[in-house]
Amino acid sequence: MSQQFRSVVRGVGKYVPENEVTNVELSKTIDTSDAWISERSGIRARRIAPRGMTTSFLAVEASKKALDDAGVSAKEIDLVIAATLSPDYFFPGIGSLLQHKLGMNPVGAFDIRQQCSGFVHGLAMADAFIRSGQARKILFCCAEIQTTIMDMTTRGRNMAVLFGDGAASIVLEGIPIASDAERPRADNTVRGVIDNITGGDGGGAENLVMRAPGTSSPDFINAADIEEGRRWPHMDGQTVFKNAIMRMTEVAETLLTRNGLKPADVSLMVPHQANLRISEMVRDKLGLPPEKVFNNIHKYGNTTAATVPLCLAEAVEEGRLKQGDLLLTVAFGAGFTWGANLVRW
Ligand code: ACO
Repeated sequence: MSQQFRSVVRGVGKYVPENEVTNVELSKTIDTSDAWISERSGIRARRIAPRGMTTSFLAVEASKKALDDAGVSAKEIDLVIAATLSPDYFFPGIGSLLQHKLGMNPVGAFDIRQQCSGFVHGLAMADAFIRSGQARKILFCCAEIQTTIMDMTTRGRNMAVLFGDGAASIVLEGIPIASDAERPRADNTVRGVIDNITGGDGGGAENLVMRAPGTSSPDFINAADIEEGRRWPHMDGQTVFKNAIMRMTEVAETLLTRNGLKPADVSLMVPHQANLRISEMVRDKLGLPPEKVFNNIHKYGNTTAATVPLCLAEAVEEGRLKQGDLLLTVAFGAGFTWGANLVRW
């Protein structure tokens, strides 16, 4: 039998732009109110990157912290995975930029375009690379600067008030497994990724979409795309809301059940931070008490791919996620995409 490995999270790190914009401040430039935003979403503030700051800049800062936390040097990393919907360039992706800016060896570096499911899908991919022995030390970064791709005026207020900028990274290490007893499972205490589920339904694509730039436009992007608003993201909020609750609950239940677990066995659930009402409804459907769910949407809004690792970094800082804990992460996003991971932290 060829050598097998388990994927252990060695370090986490986060970076958010300094500029905090509260709902009250935002309502000076957009026709909205603190009450409208906070009652519907739980968001009270978000970070907004200054014009000209790039997503790869946030990614580098978060990744340096994750590498420090892991005690791993950039030269030891043998694969980079980046999740973002807001890259510096249409191509290449930020994975390559991150590899270069951190002075890594010429290792594989790629981006995934999984939107709000970026972390849960990226972790499943990183785990697959490690389990198969194709990578031993992976830097996985989720980063977004979305406030420059949104219409931050009253015209775009249904989306503009929900999103923010930020980044967070993790470092994963593959540990050789000598026997089946050393494989992480729900019924032992071996550290590592236990199981993952990724799901998707492109039938939901038009409900949360940014149409230009793209080949759906005859010129990739043209003046009409800008004038008629196709260069801004479009969202059918209520459809997204209903599907998010349904899919997040369903995928969490499936992952737990197939590992012989009940929600009560989980030490901490970290849901994607789209809307506090979505997190609360998923929590309620799973029957979890509030102390078993980590949310920080009130501070950062929806940072898309970065929400789950931003929560992980803060849960560790606050002592709510400790070595040996059973962690459940779950997300839903544009595509539609969804997924969940079960990890012995
Ligand atoms: N401030 C004030 N009023 C607003 C704003 C705003 N920022 N945005 C919209 N409104 C108005 C609308 O124009 C509408 O007015 P009208 O009734 O006169 O036409 C009214 O508020 C109600 O709008 P609705 O869209 O019906 O409000 P709803 O209660 O559905 O809440 C929301 C909207 C918060 C977007 C909700 O649908 C939601 O959270 N959906 C999930 C979307 C989401 O989380 N997306 C994130 C990306 S995907 C993901 O991460 C999973």
